[in-house]
Amino acid sequence: MADTKSTGQNSLSGRRTLAGRCIIVGISGGIAAYKTPVLVRRLREAGAEVQVVMTENAHQFVTATTLQAVSGRPVRDSLWDAAAEAAMGHIELARWADLIIIAPATADTLSRLAAGRADDLLCTLRLASRAPVMLAPAMNNVMWDHPATMRNLQRLTEDGCVVLGPDSGPQACGETGPGRMQEPEALFSAVSDYCLSFTDWNSLATPVRSGSRSGNLQGKRVLITAGPTREAIDPVRYISNESSGKQGYALATAALRVGAEVTLISGPVNLTPPEGVETIPVTNARQMQDEVQALLPEADLFIGVAAVADYRPEEAKDQKIKKLQGGKKGLNLNLVENPDIIAGVSSSKHRPFVVGFAAETQDALQNAREKRKRKGMDMIVVNDVANPEIGFNSEENAVTVIWDGGEENLPQSSKMRLAEAIMDRIVACFVDQLATANPESVAE
Ligand code: C5P
Repeated sequence: MADTKSTGQNSLSGRRTLAGRCIIVGISGGIAAYKTPVLVRRLREAGAEVQVVMTENAHQFVTATTLQAVSGRPVRDSLWDAAAEAAMGHIELARWADLIIIAPATADTLSRLAAGRADDLLCTLRLASRAPVMLAPAMNNVMWDHPATMRNLQRLTEDGCVVLGPDSGPQACGETGPGRMQEPEALFSAVSDYCLSFTDWNSLATPVRSGSRSGNLQGKRVLITAGPTREAIDPVRYISNESSGKQGYALATAALRVGAEVTLISGPVNLTPPEGVETIPVTNARQMQDEVQALLPEADLFIGVAAVADYRPEEAKDQKIKKLQGGKKGLNLNLVENPDIIAGVSSSKHRPFVVGFAAETQDALQNAREKRKRKGMDMIVVNDVANPEIGFNSEENAVTVIWDGGEENLPQSSKMRLAEAIMDRIVACFVDQLATANPESVAE
């Protein structure tokens, strides 16, 4: 029960700000590479896992030994390193990354990235990863000003890369002007801000331009519920829960990235909706159910992430309830059951593919298996909220996905990375189901 407005924000005080983030630091061949070990060290101090990837030319400016010492991992620099590939293949490494920062990014590297080349490890990782990419350009000021460099940057920005700097000032070549790599501390701040602004879904998502959607859910409509619901007691008090909406918003972003048209029905949260997602704000469970039912006939997939309040006060008072006077103690609140939104979807005439979530504090897997069947879901995603590090209102989560054909553990990770992995599993099951129902729909 709450009589003050919940902020829905996670306190990070006392936590290392980048704990659990997996970051690839790419280094290309410019003199500013001698500063990159400081960036790597700062990222590690903040709790990030860092994998350094060097281009061939980067070795002219900084040693792999230094970078291995500060990152705590052997440097990667080749697509053809059999031992490194056997430990973690480059596609696996691309998936591992939450963020890629290339510092310094030379004129040549910018040009190769802009062209979408994949003839060395660094460029290949960038193409094979869905992680956001940050670039810290560094080059001679005349090279920086050249129209070819500007063209490449324009293209990279359109592709969703974030460009940091460069700074202006004296350069290693003796000239003065724009082209100095931003200082490691400034780059570190940019990465931290970026990772912490988890509410900025648009910066995490690769932009999808209208008319250019592609992916496995192209042409499919996905309906997602997210956040808590608030059940009014009187005009200033309500019953609610700890849900921040982050996992639901991350799934909306992930659905957008696989080409779907996404509608998000959201309870009260402090998040900015992802660009390109139609967002319908609601307050309580009955409003959420009305919106879901209205949109259901159009939906191909339904993902119920919302933490819907199971009960609401039988009556929401018009006026603020006064404290009892005259020695009377206590106040009885009569609660009635809310509709079960997801069970309603599962039993509807226009039944889409149904995915539900379950937050459990004990016997998580067993309870979730039973819940999936009871509520008629195709898939359930369960997290153990007894662990305060993950789940409700935190930056990270760890879940098990359960469907008819199997179960998969997805280990602790950022909610955005988990959303991508969950979405991959949803797409695989959905496509399987379509193929079974209508084999011709997937014929080549
Ligand atoms: O039973 P429990 O609340 O744990 O079930 C969780 C799942 O059911 C979530 O997917 C949630 O969105 C959905 N749910 C619902 N309507 C309710 C309660 C839960 O759709 N009234």
